[in-house]
Amino acid sequence: MSDAALEPKRIADSRVTLSMLMNPGHANAMGNVHGGVIMKLVDEAAGLAAVRHSRSPAVTVAIDSMTFEEPIYVGNLVTLNAELTYTGRTSMEVRVEVTAEDPLVGSTVFTNIAYVVYVAIDREGRPHPVPPLIVETPDEQVRFQQARERQIARKERHQRERALSQRRTSTTEES
Ligand SMILES: CC(C)(COP(=O)(O)OP(=O)(O)OC[C@H]1O[C@@H](n2cnc3c(N)ncnc32)[C@H](O)[C@@H]1OP(=O)(O)O)[C@@H](O)C(=O)NCCC(=O)NCCS
Repeated sequence: MSDAALEPKRIADSRVTLSMLMNPGHANAMGNVHGGVIMKLVDEAAGLAAVRHSRSPAVTVAIDSMTFEEPIYVGNLVTLNAELTYTGRTSMEVRVEVTAEDPLVGSTVFTNIAYVVYVAIDREGRPHPVPPLIVETPDEQVRFQQARERQIARKERHQRERALSQRRTSTTEES
């Protein structure tokens, strides 16, 4: 990879806005929009921001936080705003805010917030470095610091989960 490819980039350079009208095919048994539909859109918007930032394929490595604040209805226009909050060496955290507009009434409600982590990969599927993130405003600096703390917590949790799985596997093999 050339040095130019790893030049620091601004958050605005990779920001993504994605809108979609919700139709009956997106509804669950109660007639509201299925949570899984929104999760998929979140992954698409966030993944696109990660690809824009790294200019390389990127895989989802963690979705550890997603809130559902308000129901979304068929006929609503859902809009997702995704932007990077943090970059490590090969990982990127993306924050996604979701709103739903009722176009008949003209009202818009804030419905979801999610944090998703991606890793840039090379042709062999191995992690490879991403450009550092330029954090300019005080808000961006706070978000970067909070994201760094979340990433440390994720790594610790991941190690604990791995250790637990390995213990379970070895216990099953012994019995
Ligand atoms: C993502 C993947 C390539 C990472 O491979 P790996 O061998 O764990 O790589 P590393 O241990 O070097 O970690 C790479 C980066 O991921 C981060 N990472 C790994 N596991 C993580 C987790 N559970 N949560 C958050 N970050 C994690 C590491 O901190 C590291 O970040 P850094 O370089 O910025 O410090 C590998 O786990 C993978 O292929 N997973 C499947 C991805 C997938 O199929 N997603 C769904 C479809 S897109």
